[in-house]
Amino acid sequence: MAEPTHHVGLIGARGHVGAELLRLVLGHPQLDLAFASSRQLAKQPLRQLADDLPLDRSFELLDAQAVAKRAAAGVSAIFLALPNDLSAAYVEAIDAAAPGCAIIDLSADHRFDANWAYGLPEHHRAVLKGAKRIANPGCYATAAQIALAPLVDQLSGAPQIFGVSGYSGAGTTPSPKNDPEQLRDNLMPYKLAGHIHEREIARHLGHEVHFMPHVASFFRGISLTIHAPLTRDHDPASLLALYEERYAHEPLIHVQADIPFVRDATHKHLVTVGAMTTGERYAVVVATIDNLLKGAATQAVQNMNLALGLDELSGLPI
Ligand SMILES: NC(=O)c1ccc[n+]([C@@H]2O[C@H](COP(=O)([O-])OP(=O)(O)OC[C@H]3O[C@@H](n4cnc5c(N)ncnc54)[C@H](OP(=O)(O)O)[C@@H]3O)[C@@H](O)[C@H]2O)c1
Repeated sequence: MAEPTHHVGLIGARGHVGAELLRLVLGHPQLDLAFASSRQLAKQPLRQLADDLPLDRSFELLDAQAVAKRAAAGVSAIFLALPNDLSAAYVEAIDAAAPGCAIIDLSADHRFDANWAYGLPEHHRAVLKGAKRIANPGCYATAAQIALAPLVDQLSGAPQIFGVSGYSGAGTTPSPKNDPEQLRDNLMPYKLAGHIHEREIARHLGHEVHFMPHVASFFRGISLTIHAPLTRDHDPASLLALYEERYAHEPLIHVQADIPFVRDATHKHLVTVGAMTTGERYAVVVATIDNLLKGAATQAVQNMNLALGLDELSGLPI
C-alpha cells in the first residue's frame, strides 16, 4: 500500500536554510510541498533561487494570517525558517486556526521554551515522536552537544569550544560576517562570551560551557575544537570506544580516530566526531557538521518525520 502524503509548508524559503529544505521536501517520498513563502521572490519560480529547483512551482507572499488559513486547509506541518524574533505572529495564527498542524521552528525563538520539544533526535527522540511544537537546535549547538554528551558525566569544569563557521551561517542579510571581501584571507572572531549557542548548549547538555565562535571565508560547514577537562584519565583508544558505543546505532553520527576536516563535512547529513586526543585529565575532540544540513535542514526533516510518525530518516539521501 502506498504511504500517505503529508502536505507541508515552508516559511522563509528564500534563505540558505530554506533552499536546503526545498530540496529535501521536494525529494521526500511522503511529503508534498503545499507552499513556500518569500517576500523578495514572491510569484517567481523556485528556479530563481537555484538551478536545481523546479520552474513549475513558485514562491508565494504569505503573511501570518494567510499561512494559518492554508494550514487549516489540510496542511500537516510547517517549517519556519525565518530570522530570530519573527516566529510569534505565525505561531499565534497557526495555534488559533490549525492547532493540530505541527510546527518546526528553525530559529532560536523556542529553544529555551519548555513548552516546545527540543529537536535533537539523537538525544531526545522519545519526546519528538508526535510532537506538535519543535524547536530545531542551532548549528554549532548541534555539533557541540553531540561531541560533548559522551563526556558530560566525567567533566571537571566547563569545556572550551573553539568554533569556526562558514559564512552561510550568518544568513543572507548583508553583514561583515557574510561579506566575502571582509573575510578574504581572514578569520573573524565574534561574540566571544555569551553567544546564544553557549546558553543553548549549556541548557540542553546540562553543563556550563565556554564557546568562542569565528567565521571564515568558506561558505558552508563548521569545525569545533573542544577541550574538555575531566575527572579521570582516558587514552585515545578508551575515548574512541566511549564515542563508538554511545553512537553505535545513530546513522547520522560518524565517529573516527582521525581529525575530521570541515571540507569533508559539506553536503553531508552528518555530525563527525574525531581527533580523539587525550592528556592528563583532559580530552580534545573535533566535531564537523554542515551547518545548513544536519545543523539545520536535515535535522528539521528528521524532526518533521518524527512529528508525523514517519521513519526518522525518510527523505534523507544518506
Ligand atoms: N544559516 C545557518 O547555518 C543556520 C543554521 C541553523 C539555523 N539557522 C536559523 O534558520 C533561520 C533561517 O536562517 P537562514 O540562514 O536561512 O537565513 P536567511 O538566509 O537570512 O533567510 C531568511 C529567510 O526569512 C525571510 N525573511 C526575512 N525577514 C523576514 C520577515 N520580516 N518576514 C518574513 N520573512 C522574512 C527571507 O525571505 P524574504 O526576505 O524573501 O521574505 C528568507 O527566506 C534563522 O533563524 C537561523 O538562525 C540558520
